[in-house]
Order: sequence, then structure tokens, then C-alpha cells
Amino acid sequence: MTTEAIAEVSHLTKAFGTVAAVEDLSFAVRPGEVCGLLGPNGAGKTTTLRMLVGLIAPSSGTATLFGTTVHAGCPELLRVGAMVEQAAFVPHLSGMTNLRLWWEAGGGRLHDADLDGALAIAGLGDAVHRKVRTYSQGMKQRLGFARLLLARPELLILDEPTNGLDPAEIKEIRNLVHRLADHGAAVLLSSHHLAEVEQTCSEVVVMSRGRLVASGTVDELRSSGATVRIEVDDRTAAAGVLRSLPAVGKVEIDGPELVVQLRDGRRSDLVAALVMAGVRVESVTATRDLEDVFLGLVDQSEQLRTSQAGQSGQSSRETR
Ligand SMILES: Nc1ncnc2c1ncn2[C@@H]1O[C@H](COP(=O)(O)OP(=O)(O)O)[C@@H](O)[C@H]1O
Ligand SMILES: [Mg+2]
Repeated sequence: MTTEAIAEVSHLTKAFGTVAAVEDLSFAVRPGEVCGLLGPNGAGKTTTLRMLVGLIAPSSGTATLFGTTVHAGCPELLRVGAMVEQAAFVPHLSGMTNLRLWWEAGGGRLHDADLDGALAIAGLGDAVHRKVRTYSQGMKQRLGFARLLLARPELLILDEPTNGLDPAEIKEIRNLVHRLADHGAAVLLSSHHLAEVEQTCSEVVVMSRGRLVASGTVDELRSSGATVRIEVDDRTAAAGVLRSLPAVGKVEIDGPELVVQLRDGRRSDLVAALVMAGVRVESVTATRDLEDVFLGLVDQSEQLRTSQAGQSGQSSRETR
């Protein structure tokens, strides 16, 4: 790809004693992307994000922000809003006072901060003048966002931003992330919840046991290994075209549709090939749910690692 990455990890590895929390992980976040780091608990998401924001140093490999290798206190971190540790507030002060005190503690004056923008995106309304101890979990989370946004960050790094929130609050956070992206910020957020990543993110990086399992756009992931139903004007011609593509497995004609087993390609490649061959494509639907793909991917990687560990005589037991 040609666009310069805002955040990038390359062969990133972190071991805690004998536990490899992150192993040889590489991915990039580019401008305008909302990237989801998706994986089950213990996959290494938090460890990855902590390395990206300079809280811990990698064992090997690199984490870069805006093209510069990250280290604690590096200036590039000023361009990033990170919520990797729980945001803490003074409970008996209002949200607004908390914002002001926090900003001033960083040496700034509140009128230099993007207070209006931050409040508009965080969507707290008049509640920002109430004491924080009256806030719900979701409101505290939104105040945390407002605090990050004061400095007009170009990238937000959020570790499980919806953890502990109820469905309505989760929806609010989702809308908030979309508002952020509309304002041109890139977002990297972690989650162990597939549906959330599917609804919130444009790109996804799937991790399991410290390793990359898959990455791409949400659409690509959804269509990988999927069954795709395609409605065309000329089924026979279309079947011929599709059967000649290496990414395609079986092709069957089912009433007005073709049922296509896609091995590893993208749906858009199928459509492109059909259109090039002069076939009119009426509709394309993937029948496999991302949930299956995700579980399948994580499962495959678990099996692979278990068999590798078996071959080398090591135990692959998890430590937690
Ligand atoms: N400070 C630490 N010391 C020892 N082990 C750690 C530490 N932080 C994380 N781990 C281990 O690294 C693995 C990945 O953890 P983590 O990055 O928190 O995963 P996730 O955020 O995906 O749930 C887990 O096995 C966890 O126990
Ligand atoms: Mg975590």
C-alpha cells in the first residue's frame, strides 16, 4: 500500500518470562481507518497497545507512530489519544472541572483545547456539569473520550472501550467512534467481541495467542472462505468465468443464482472478473457469518500451535 501508516507494528514480540504475550505481530493503521484488534482474552491485545503507546518496551520488533519508533515520552505520542489504562476522575467534581484540571495539569490552558469539539463528539450534553460520581459507567467512558479529544489527536488507541458497558452504552460508543472517524481521526481499538468490531470497524486484525491470525477489511474477512451467492443475467457464462478463477472452489447453479465456494479471494474479485467478461451482476451475498470465520480462524491457529508444540515436545498450556 502507498499511504503512509499512522501506526505500525512490525515483527513485534513481547515475552513476560516464558510467556510469549505477543509474537511476531505485524500490521498497520492508515489514515481514515477504524481498525479493530480482535481476539479472545489473553490474545495479547493489551500488551500490543501498551507497546504502541510506549508504556512497555518490546522484546523485539518495532512499534512506530507516524513513522517513528515509539519510546516512552516520545513527541509522536502527543498526536495520539490513548485509553489503555482505566481513566480516573475526581468523583466530587463535575465532568467539566475534571477536564479543565486534567488539561491544566498538562501545562495548557483550557481555551487552547478543543473543548467544543471534544464535548460534541463525546455527547455528554448538560451532564458534563454534573458531579462525576453521578455518572454511569458509559458516561465516565465518554468523559474519558472527551479528555482524549481535547488535544485534537490524529489517532485514538482504545483498549476494549466498551468493556463493562450495557448495550445502549455500547451503541453510544460506537456512534462516537464513527463521529471521530468522520472528523478524520484514525482509530485502533481492541475487542474480544466480534459483532462489535464488525459494526464499528472498517479494518480488522485478528489475534490469537499473541499471533496474527488474519487481517484485512471487515468485508474481506467476512468473505474469506465463504459461500457467495451471485445473481447474474447469464448463469452458464458466469459459471465458466468463475470456475477459471484460482480463488474459487465449487460453483453450482441454484435457481436464478450461482452458489460459489470462495477459497481465499474477495467477493469483489469475483464481481470484477464477471464484469470484465461481460456478465451482468445483479446481486452478491455472502452467506457465512463473520462469527464463523472468526471462530474458525482462532480455532485453526490453536490447532496449529498445539500440533507445533506437540512436535517440539513443548507444552502449549495457557498460563491463564
Ligand atoms: N505484565 C505481565 N506479566 C506477565 N504476563 C503478562 C503481563 N501482561 C500480560 N501478560 C500475559 O500475556 C498474555 C496476553 O495478555 P494481554 O495482552 O493482556 O491479552 P488481552 O488483552 O488480549 O486479553 C496473557 O497470557 C497474560 O497473562
Ligand atoms: Mg486486554
